[in-house]
Amino acid sequence: MRVVLFTGKGGVGKTTVAAATAVHAARHGVKTLVLSTDAAHSLGDALGRSLEPDELQEIEPGLFAQQVDAGRRLQQTWGAVQGYLLDVLAALDVQPMDAAELTVLPGADDVLTLLAVREQVESGPWDLVVVDCAPTAETLRWLAVPDALTRLVDRVLPSQRAIARALVPVVGRAASLPIPGREVGPALLQLRSQLSGALEMLRSSSASVRLVLTPEAVVLAEARRTLTALSLQGFVVDGVVANRVIPAQSASDWQLGWVQAQSAVLERADEAFAPVTVRRAPYLEAEPVGPHALARLGERLLADQGADGVGDGLVELLSGPTRPNPVRVERHGRDFELVLDLPNVQARDVDLARREDDLLVAVDGNRRVISLPSALRRCTVAGARLRDGALHVRFEPDPALWPSP
Ligand SMILES: Nc1ncnc2c1ncn2[C@@H]1O[C@H](COP(=O)(O)OP(=O)(O)OP(=O)(O)O)[C@@H](O)[C@H]1O
Ligand SMILES: [Mg+2]
Repeated sequence: MRVVLFTGKGGVGKTTVAAATAVHAARHGVKTLVLSTDAAHSLGDALGRSLEPDELQEIEPGLFAQQVDAGRRLQQTWGAVQGYLLDVLAALDVQPMDAAELTVLPGADDVLTLLAVREQVESGPWDLVVVDCAPTAETLRWLAVPDALTRLVDRVLPSQRAIARALVPVVGRAASLPIPGREVGPALLQLRSQLSGALEMLRSSSASVRLVLTPEAVVLAEARRTLTALSLQGFVVDGVVANRVIPAQSASDWQLGWVQAQSAVLERADEAFAPVTVRRAPYLEAEPVGPHALARLGERLLADQGADGVGDGLVELLSGPTRPNPVRVERHGRDFELVLDLPNVQARDVDLARREDDLLVAVDGNRRVISLPSALRRCTVAGARLRDGALHVRFEPDPALWPSP
């Protein structure tokens, strides 16, 4: 089972590319669901069908589509918790770094969208789930939700055992927070476990993100920042699609200038994303609307493109990312190194801090709180450096916390 998320700047062709990928896969015998988390409802437009909100619809054999309707789910599951969380946020005495964390707290609809994706991934008979995401900024926000909210819930609910014993008095006393109503505790706990599940799913080796861009300098710059931000959050980017590439052979004089400009940007894109492949999709004569037009685009996008290393895209898509987890721990003698993939950044852009059992990493306004594994909790940070697109943080055992050999 594979989950592939498509994101990128507004209007670059995310929905079209996601739908084309899904149609192509389904027509090659892969049981596929294409899901849209974008409230703009354009997935139905691309498929040439009107999709009922939140209903699974068969488009053609082996291909289903669903438009997630967060607003509708909001009413059903979120009401009690949301009201309480707002009280909690108002009452928390928040440290500056925490405040930054809490700013990534979602609109409730982000959470519900994420849960809807997980629900389908877990319950459906799919070989492939393609997710057409909202533009980058929103996608990054909802991908950051599980970490931020799990942290908040843990803070509100000091320990699972304590909650099981007596939720209301414990929460009220321990954290001087507003006392939740009777219905809030179980709802929060359920939400917490669902969110951890969603996060696990998205960071697992079966899930990956693909960036869609158009070959323009400004769009490329944003896509590179997105790659950094996604890596920081622990998500693997395993493909890039350059969409609307003007075919040189049919270009008019006026278009020739664009062909040259695009090819310069494409060259830079190849460099910036290597070893990830940048596949090209041509600028078509007409909008690719409906399964047949999408299938043709999917074919051109995923077929063997003949260039170095650009082989059969469907095989590559289904076999999943080949790169290691973006966050890993390596052992060097008695020391450890935490390695975090951070492509396209310079040392001066990275802020690093240790706070108890967490490592806080900030790049360009995006933050990640990495909960340290237990071996590293008993170490002190000895240094950090950027090498080959990854941040290496060195940890030395703290003699006070390790038994002497
Ligand atoms: N390769 C292409 N050739 C011609 N037209 C295209 C191509 N790709 C996308 N389009 C058209 O461009 C428009 C925008 O595409 P699409 O809706 O897929 O972008 P998007 O990135 O999902 O936008 P949004 O940010 O609004 O979600 C659509 O009208 C679509 O049919
Ligand atoms: Mg779209």
